[in-house]
Amino acid sequence: MAQKKALITGVNGQDGSYLAELLLHKGYEVHGLVRRVGLEAPERRLERVVALRDQIKLHAASLENYAALYQAIAKIRPDECYHLAAASFVSYEFDDEFSTLTTNINGTHYLLASLKDLAPHCRFYFAGTSEMFGAAEASPQDESTRFRPRSIYGISKVAGFELTRNYRERYGMHASSGILFNHESPRRGFEFVTRKITSTVARILAGQSTELRLGNLEPLRDWGDARQYVEAMWRMLQQEHADDYVIATGRLHSVKQFVEIAFASVGLDWQQYVVVDQNYYRPAEKIPLCGNPAKAKRVLGWEATTDFAILVREMVAEDCRLLGLELPIIESTVS
Ligand code: GDD
Repeated sequence: MAQKKALITGVNGQDGSYLAELLLHKGYEVHGLVRRVGLEAPERRLERVVALRDQIKLHAASLENYAALYQAIAKIRPDECYHLAAASFVSYEFDDEFSTLTTNINGTHYLLASLKDLAPHCRFYFAGTSEMFGAAEASPQDESTRFRPRSIYGISKVAGFELTRNYRERYGMHASSGILFNHESPRRGFEFVTRKITSTVARILAGQSTELRLGNLEPLRDWGDARQYVEAMWRMLQQEHADDYVIATGRLHSVKQFVEIAFASVGLDWQQYVVVDQNYYRPAEKIPLCGNPAKAKRVLGWEATTDFAILVREMVAEDCRLLGLELPIIESTVS
């Protein structure tokens, strides 16, 4: 059988880099789309795929550029396309609304339209998100829960989700969406709360920082392990029929619990370091975003198994290692 070709947009992101590793391991020829600026400063901008540079083929094309995307797809003619690239930070006050909508909606549309013309057999994965549920009416959420996005990012993702479904229904494309709840790892971006916490804990331990400024500590999140979530993406595209799936743990923890475990894992008391700062404040959801992954388990045979506290401790340990610190061995009292 011919070697399968996969194209990953956002290959240098947390999920893109783990997915590239998974697909290489499975024997795929892996192509990645990156913005030109990413290619120009590879030592800084492509840090998550540095180790894979010889094994994956990188193509420069930004999501706003239809001609460049079209040309890249004409060249690659992928069998599977994982569309992970997006402006993905959620904010309610400082949204660059126009650019988030333009990048996320047009990027998805350009990709689908190019694939329809040039590689209609290609299986397509769209990175949907729990932010599409937004101010949800019920918890937990599943594939039949109504979308009520409350951020521009969430709105852009609902549009991408609907485009994906439309191409599936109108053109018969094998196009699926994963509705992924929060997923973390030692490769998480520093702007997201989990990595902000674990990297600051390491800096405090190293004497490089004295405090951690956070917004609201009360929000609850359904936090999973990114390495398991990319496996779910791949499984979706191996199904006979395309469909949409909630990918989640079904378990909730608060930001405060994450903080407690992270500090306790290096023997520190979080209350001495955490400062609540209104600049980072976002209101908590009235009804928490918690996924029901029953369909993924039933159809894909997929289940989130990483223990929350172990994931937190691993992220702290990795950030300590990056700073050259030895982790003290602490008897855990929090879980
Ligand atoms: N980023 C951040 N910074 N969040 C904070 C802070 C802070 O200083 N303090 C408290 N929080 C709270 C936020 O208010 C939010 O309730 C929670 O921590 C998680 O915030 P993020 O880590 O920024 O993630 P998110 O839940 O908004 O969005 C992430 O998950 C979505 C679902 O998978 C992102 O990865 C999205 O792209 C993704 O769609």
